[in-house]
Amino acid sequence: MQQYLNIFQHLATEHFRQDRAVSEPISAKNLTEVVDFSLGFEGADIDALEQAASQYLTYQPDSAQVDFFKLLYSGRNDPALFGDWITSLSNANMHTYQMSPVATLMEQELINQWNRLIGFTTDSKTGDGIMVSGGSQANLIGMMMARHHACPELKTKGSTSQKLVAFVSDQAHYSGQKAVNVLGIGTDNLIAVASDDQGRLCPAALSEAIELSIKQGHKPFYIGLTAGTTVLGAFDPVPECRAIADKYNIWLHIDGAWGAPILFSPTHKHLLKGCELADSFAWDAHKLMNVPITAAVVLTRHQGMLEQTCGGGGGDYLFHSDENAAYNLGQKSIQCGRRADSLKVWLSWKAIGNKGFSDKIDHLQDIKQSCVNTITASPELHMIGPSPYLNILFQYRPEAALNEEELRALNISICKTMQAQGGAFVDYAKYQGKTGIRLILANSDTQKSDIERLLSHCIKTGEALVNAS
Ligand SMILES: Cc1ncc(COP(=O)(O)O)c(C=O)c1O
Repeated sequence: MQQYLNIFQHLATEHFRQDRAVSEPISAKNLTEVVDFSLGFEGADIDALEQAASQYLTYQPDSAQVDFFKLLYSGRNDPALFGDWITSLSNANMHTYQMSPVATLMEQELINQWNRLIGFTTDSKTGDGIMVSGGSQANLIGMMMARHHACPELKTKGSTSQKLVAFVSDQAHYSGQKAVNVLGIGTDNLIAVASDDQGRLCPAALSEAIELSIKQGHKPFYIGLTAGTTVLGAFDPVPECRAIADKYNIWLHIDGAWGAPILFSPTHKHLLKGCELADSFAWDAHKLMNVPITAAVVLTRHQGMLEQTCGGGGGDYLFHSDENAAYNLGQKSIQCGRRADSLKVWLSWKAIGNKGFSDKIDHLQDIKQSCVNTITASPELHMIGPSPYLNILFQYRPEAALNEEELRALNISICKTMQAQGGAFVDYAKYQGKTGIRLILANSDTQKSDIERLLSHCIKTGEALVNAS
């Protein structure tokens, strides 16, 4: 083991260098020529393993750097990273208290804190929850609880006479499609409701879609709102949609995979006004809270619902009725073996407290505003959607008038060129027919100067591409 620890320390020190390129783009074909991926009958020595691990890190984009703006996470969270290492060392398994005593109580404390932030837990009521592999699974479980709420017999009988229909906005994450597929609802029965000019689900369109579905003889069972949409960072209106959900007795879920941490900030949490009215809630700690993947949770204000929906089996050999049986979290999960993701989240939360996350949100919102101001003042850059949260979507437009197809090609080229140069790693996305550069602010080390540098790099890259064409 000591040999591996020495190699690990050496590789980690190398990897944490700030002067390395954000990414070393390489095609899959070329990578197979650089790295020996073969497995065979004979084993290899430790030098070969070290070389493979080193190459793994070399070609892995470094999401910890301030120039990484591509995804809904960035930066390094040292206490969480430390927790991840200890988790691997422990190989704890979250199905039973016996196999994860400390991690189980840490998960319970986290669920309690998350529920308090949402408002599912107050002095008079207690919410519930279970950690999951990510927002996609959290949304799946949210929809599964909704299905159980609408048709409890489906769990045992496996089918229903009425067609079940789910509703999300046209800006919702694609995990909704996965969920209707997995749960046997059918992708045709996931209705994408129109959003307004701020990218928020439109309640009037939701009501209309539900009415139509009822007229067709179907059974609406799930409304999935988003807090922080993937492209724009928009927050769907909760109280208005709660009223609609109540009128038709439909389960209301909020996908807060990206936007939920806004609840840490007294200044900005109004964006999620009314979230305590939802029935269930998805929250990713591996996005803005910057805990290494995977770390997420699904929460509900209905005690017992997770166990009723997901529980069953294993009593003869795993879930023994000992004095700690009430702490066996496995019956609330769709997994059997489950990694102890609680430790890394708990350590990072313990290290900085609610205040640390609140400061991070406020800092990044401040940077966002300054970035939007710079874009708005620039003759070459144009916002192509609102920016209520930490997503910024804009286009570079040269002096010569280009049509939308040409602008799309140019902006995609800007992203690709900057990445190929090892500089800023940004992504592109489409909103209302326009394709632009999408920046995600998720790294608390990012400063206004980093954004100014990035924007002028976008302009220079755009100019060079136009001049070369
Ligand atoms: C709004 C939203 N929900 C859910 C997800 C899926 O989360 P995960 O990748 O943790 O499954 C994402 C991912 O980007 C997202 O943006």
